[in-house]
Amino acid sequence: MEVGICKQDMLQKKKNAVLVDGVILNGPIMDSKAGEKFVEEACKIIMEEVIQKANDVTEKVCEWRAPETLKKILDLEMRDTGESHQKLLQLCQDVIQYSVKTSHPRFFNQLYAGIDYYSLVARFITEALNPSVYTYEVSPVFLLVEETVIKKMIEFIGWEEGDGIFNPGGSVSNMYAMNLARYKFCPEIKEKGLSSLPRLVLFTSEECHYSMKKAASFLGIGTENVYFIKTDERGKMIPEELEKQVQRARKEGSAPFLVCATAGTTVLGAFDPLDEIADICEKHGLWLHVDASWGGSALISRKHCRLLHGIHRADSVAWNPHKMLLAGIQCCALLVKDNSGLLKKCYSAKAAYLFQQDKFYDVSYDTGDKSIQCSRRPDAFKFWLMWKALGTTGLEERVNRALALARYLVEEIKKREGFQLLLEPEYANVCFWYIPPSLRKMEDGPEFWQKLHEVAPIIKERMMKKGSMMLGYQPHRGKVNFFRQVVISPQKDSG
Ligand SMILES: Cc1ncc(COP(=O)(O)O)c(C=O)c1O
Repeated sequence: MEVGICKQDMLQKKKNAVLVDGVILNGPIMDSKAGEKFVEEACKIIMEEVIQKANDVTEKVCEWRAPETLKKILDLEMRDTGESHQKLLQLCQDVIQYSVKTSHPRFFNQLYAGIDYYSLVARFITEALNPSVYTYEVSPVFLLVEETVIKKMIEFIGWEEGDGIFNPGGSVSNMYAMNLARYKFCPEIKEKGLSSLPRLVLFTSEECHYSMKKAASFLGIGTENVYFIKTDERGKMIPEELEKQVQRARKEGSAPFLVCATAGTTVLGAFDPLDEIADICEKHGLWLHVDASWGGSALISRKHCRLLHGIHRADSVAWNPHKMLLAGIQCCALLVKDNSGLLKKCYSAKAAYLFQQDKFYDVSYDTGDKSIQCSRRPDAFKFWLMWKALGTTGLEERVNRALALARYLVEEIKKREGFQLLLEPEYANVCFWYIPPSLRKMEDGPEFWQKLHEVAPIIKERMMKKGSMMLGYQPHRGKVNFFRQVVISPQKDSG
């Protein structure tokens, strides 16, 4: 049976059919039985082709094809008439076959890999329920779940109270924080806009995530007004340099308002010295935001939480459980120390059609107006179900395992000829060079580096064509131009 309905059949079966403009209004828009069968069959494919195969090291991470070839293989065209279920199921198979199985043991991505079954089921549930987390009447359970998860994350940061909201990712959370800090600095901005502002300046390290630049440009602050602070040889912000730059900005007559520290930089996995940075922020009255999108998960580990020492002094924190903790993408919270409703004051638009104040229940649970979104996914739920399943201890083991695997890799790199460790990692980022035999006796110099530069893309190509995958970074730090980074997945047993 096909999804489309035959109007003639419907009319015959339904004697009381209500017809308006030739449209039958009291018939189903879709054959639900056929739809359910389709879902059942598609779920079987997902189970076999994604969940089971993607965990099998003998399977490929991805059948890689060049765009032009892939366009020919896949039937991408959308037509006037719908396709049969059989064809659609085949399309689903094709999509899976040529997509990257991110939970595969040989998928080496910078910031995530591996599967968490509980978070996956939570995603299935929310996809099927299709809720939107704006008001309690529409999402009673998910709003309570979000409140609980945020409270627990706040406890791990070390605040006695606070507020927060789940957003689509760390980049968006950083942008939220930047805007919130600006609102705190100059609340008139909400009504008056940029014209009411002096030249605002913010500070972040030169190793920060690129979302800082994007946020500054998106919010009208301007990328030139992001002062990038020098980092030490480990990639950590140098507090004395921060102090100098704040003073420079003041001398220039501009208005410093925010410092964005990073806990777990994207490339080197460096943790900025939060306590010393917090001292400077306090001295100059600056908002301290900590981008702990990557490193925040270490807070769960009693062994490694010292990496974020001083985070309780931050005004806001971005933390992505979808990275090391393996909650599915996207799952990220912006957490705010303020508990006086600053988040809501900054973001609310008080839309009367949705956030009526005379509802029959406690409208403080209608938290959607804290968000810039209207429709919003219940991202906290996947983290919650996973946390319920593993307990805090299980999450802690996940973090400890990731860091232990990184240590193991470091020791292996040290033992092997041709591998050069860039620096001892303090987190799960392992940065190293592979020097092929042909270059091992070559003198250090521009020619050596130029040749070495060509190695990583070749290895990457070979790996991908053989069915594994390593997505590495290639940052440019002074003379150290050409290293590749691996971030170890906590889930990997083989490969
Ligand atoms: C330190 C840091 N901040 C922010 C982000 C952005 O997070 P998202 O990808 O969820 O937008 C990343 C992503 O890699 C990151 O490493």
